[in-house]
Amino acid sequence: MFPQLRLRRLRRTDALRALVRETSLDAVDMVYPLFVVEGRGVKQEISAMPGIYHFSPDRLKDEVKEIAGLGIPAVILFGIPDSKDETGSSAWDRQGVIQKAIRAIKKAAPGLLVITDVCLCEYTSHGHCGVITDGCVDNDRTLPLLAKMALSHAEAGADIVAPSDMMDGRVKAIRQHLDKNGFEQMPILSYAAKYASAFFGPFREAAQSAPQFGDRRSYQMDPANARQALLEIEEDIKEGADMIMVKPALPYLDVIRRARDAFNYPLAAYNVSGEYSMVKAASQRGWIDGKTVTMEILTAIKRAGADIIITYHAKEAAAWLQGK
Ligand code: PBG
Ligand code: ZN
Repeated sequence: MFPQLRLRRLRRTDALRALVRETSLDAVDMVYPLFVVEGRGVKQEISAMPGIYHFSPDRLKDEVKEIAGLGIPAVILFGIPDSKDETGSSAWDRQGVIQKAIRAIKKAAPGLLVITDVCLCEYTSHGHCGVITDGCVDNDRTLPLLAKMALSHAEAGADIVAPSDMMDGRVKAIRQHLDKNGFEQMPILSYAAKYASAFFGPFREAAQSAPQFGDRRSYQMDPANARQALLEIEEDIKEGADMIMVKPALPYLDVIRRARDAFNYPLAAYNVSGEYSMVKAASQRGWIDGKTVTMEILTAIKRAGADIIITYHAKEAAAWLQGK
C-alpha cells in the first residue's frame, strides 16, 4: 500500500518500462493479406484501404520479396477472378488467379509461407460463401466444393489452407479430402469464430465479394455471442483444425482471451479491413497519430492472447519495429 507501494517507480525511464513490459510485438507473428486480380502489370491501390493494393500475379514478385525482407513470415491470399458463376467454379481452376499467384510467390520468395483463404464468396455470382438452394446457403452441398478448392490450393503449392466460410463440417471435409490426396501434412488454419461483422466493409469492396441478396448472418456468428465462439472453436479442433482464429480482432478481444484460456492451440486474430481503414481515415485527417494507435492496437490484440496477428498493418509495423 502507498507510500511503500509506488507503481510509478517502474515507469520512470524507457529502460525501466522496457524491463517490466509484459507484451511485445514481433514481425515474426504477423501475416500480411494480399489481394490478387487477373491480368498483367496491375498494381492498383484499393480506395477504401489506403496503402493496400490489387496485384496481378506477375506483379507480386517485388512485393513478396519486400514482405519477406521485413521479417514477416507469411501472407494470406484473396483472389478476385474474372468470371463468377453459381457454384464459384473458378475457385478450383488450376489456372485460377490464386493458383497462379501461389506459384508466382513460391518462385519469388520460396521461404515465405503462403496461406490461402478458402471460401466461395469471391467466386460466386451471388457473393455468398456457399452455394444456394431455394434461396438459402446450402451447407452440405458447399462442403465438397470447399474441399476441392483447398486441394487445388495445396496442389498449386500453398503452405496452409484457411477456410473462412463458416459452414458446419468444412474442416472435416477439407481434412479428409486433403488426406485422401496425399496432403496429410497440410495444416488447416480455421476461421473458427468468425462474426457477421460490419467491419468487413472495405474488404468486400476490395474483394468484390458483397452478397447480392441478404447477408451472412445465417452462417457467420452473432456479435452478441461469446460462449458460442468456444463451441465453434471446439468443433473445428475436433474436426482437425491445426490452428484457430477469432475474427474480427479489436471488437472481440474478450473472445480472443477466452479462446486462449480454453484451448492450447495456436491462436490467430484477424485485424480486419474496417479496423485498418478507420485508423487510416482518422490519421489522414490528423485526428489520431496513426503509428502510435496502430502499435497500441496490435499490442492489445497480442495482450488479449493472440499468437498470430493477420493485419494490413504488418508491413508498416515491421518497418517501425526495425526503427525505420
Ligand atoms: C471471405 C472473407 C472475408 C474476410 C476474410 N475472408 C469477408 C466476408 O466474410 O465477408 C474479411 C477480411 C477483412 O475484412 O479484412 N469470407
Ligand atoms: Zn466468404
